[in-house]
Parts: sequence; structure tokens; C-alpha cells
Amino acid sequence: MAESTPQNWHDVDHYLAETLVGHDPALEAALAAQRGAGMPEIEVAPVAGKLLNLLVRISGAERVLEIGTLGGYSTIWMARAVGERGRVTTIEAEADNAAVARASIDAAGVGDRVDIRIGRAADVLPTLVGGFDLVFIDADKESNTIYLDWAAKLGHPGTVVIVDNIGRNGDVADASSTDPMVVGTRAGLRMLADDPRFDATALQTVGLKGWDGVALAVVV
Ligand code: DHB
Ligand code: MG
Repeated sequence: MAESTPQNWHDVDHYLAETLVGHDPALEAALAAQRGAGMPEIEVAPVAGKLLNLLVRISGAERVLEIGTLGGYSTIWMARAVGERGRVTTIEAEADNAAVARASIDAAGVGDRVDIRIGRAADVLPTLVGGFDLVFIDADKESNTIYLDWAAKLGHPGTVVIVDNIGRNGDVADASSTDPMVVGTRAGLRMLADDPRFDATALQTVGLKGWDGVALAVVV
């Protein structure tokens, strides 16, 4: 039996991506552009990007909101899934990142479906018109409760809410952590449990991105 080591998580994730995702020139170009611009390698893994794509399709979401564009990798995955009439609104705090994302999303052929809003999400969210069917939260973890509140306000019963990075290398279970990202992640999970607007679960994950996890909720 293989040992559970980060190298083996990596190898299995690579195998799963090779088998089920395959070679994807537009997404690979988006990653190359992102790396070239010096952005951190914190985009979702290929298998997770495809999970986002499938969740959009399974839920039938046509209006998607993403908080945290980075280089547009997950944006492209979801934009492909919303269909011809669908739209993705994605919020990015850094104008330089947004410019890279804009070029990659356009080059991927889904530019007409994607609206990039530049600014701090806490400032941009109050300016958006609601009715989103799926919300993907993948930005500064300190603000997860603010983002969840807006996901509920801008969604409707049945809206799917996904929160990235809820595992944080296992630190999420440490109630004494003072790491603001852990504290923010825990506050978001507490809110998903206690706030009657949500019904939620979460899965921890291992793979190319180490030991982490994803929360999945529905607006009730
Ligand atoms: C971090 C943020 C992410 O969205 C991610 O997927 C991984 C790490 C971070 O800020 O550490
Ligand atoms: Mg993330």
C-alpha cells in the first residue's frame, strides 16, 4: 500500500488530472501567464477546477459570482460551464492580476461571459445586482464571513456556495490559532453552521495543493 505522503498525494492528483482532465491549452496558457506575472501558485488544482465546472452544470447555474479572480484559472473553468447565456462576475482586488486574467479569459474564448470587477470585494459586493445561482469564495480568508453574508444576500434559495481553502494544512482544527487566515476560516465555518440561511458541509482534501479542503453550502 502506498504511504500517505505529500509526494504521493501529488502523484495521485497528477494521475487523476491526467486521466480525467487531460491536456487543456487555454488553461495551461492561463497558468503560464499567471506564473509569468509572478502571481502565487494558489489557483485551484485542475481536478478542483473541473469540480467547479461540474458543480455549475449539475446545479444549472447561469449566474456565477467569484470572489478572488487571481489569474482567471477557476474563472475559465466556470465560464465554460454557464452556457451561452450564462455570465460570471468575478472580483479581483489587484488591477495587475485582473489585466492578466482578462487576457487569459479572452484568449480562452469565454471573454463575453465574464465581467471582472476590480476592487476590494467588500467594496464591490454592495454594488452588485443579486440573483447569483452559484458563489465561489476564494479570496482573503479573514473576510470569509463578510463574503458569506453577501453570498446569501446576492443569492436565492438553492444558490450553491463554495468556500476554498478550509483545511489550511490541518490548522483549521486548532481553536487556539491566532493566524488571521485560520481565524477567518473558522469564523466562516461557524457561520455556515449557525446562520439559518445556509446548510453546509466540508471536505478536507490532499493533492497538488497540499492538505486543504473545500466547504459546500446551499442557501436555504
Ligand atoms: C491561499 C489562498 C488561496 O486561495 C489558496 O487556494 C491557497 C492559499 C493563501 O492565501 O495562503
Ligand atoms: Mg484558494
